[in-house]
Amino acid sequence: MGSRNRVDILHGVNLDMLGRRPVSHYGQLTFDQLEQRIGAFAHELDLEPRFFQTNHEGQLVEHLHRVEGLADGIIINPGAWTHYAWAIRDALEIAALPAVEVHLSDVDAREEFRRVSVIRDLCVATVKGEGVDGYRTALARLKQELDL
Ligand code: DQA
Repeated sequence: MGSRNRVDILHGVNLDMLGRRPVSHYGQLTFDQLEQRIGAFAHELDLEPRFFQTNHEGQLVEHLHRVEGLADGIIINPGAWTHYAWAIRDALEIAALPAVEVHLSDVDAREEFRRVSVIRDLCVATVKGEGVDGYRTALARLKQELDL
């Protein structure tokens, strides 16, 4: 296996509440089930996933500060932080790893405030509106970026 196959799968605020959020936007899966599916996608692609979820912005910032040497790429769904959390953006820039932004729902087809992403230009791709399968798309894109 290649040495650059370690992927951090980062989830932000309220994603741990999947299963209690609107099914029309986010589907039926609980967060644990979502992580299991992502883990299976990653292993199919010979990627080594590591998972992190928090509802505390500073914890995600500090996770990104520490990621150097522990991951080769990042899949990130920051939840609502996507739309306004400049500190997450700065921390993602500090992490300086290839990153793909993922949203379960189609953020561009919902409320106006969801059309803004403060991380988008730091990411090699954005995947939205594909539900859980979007994570497979995102992992495949990241794998390509890592030259695996
Ligand atoms: C989300 C979209 C965000 O606008 C929202 O705040 C979320 C989830 C998604 O995966 O579709 O919490 O990132």
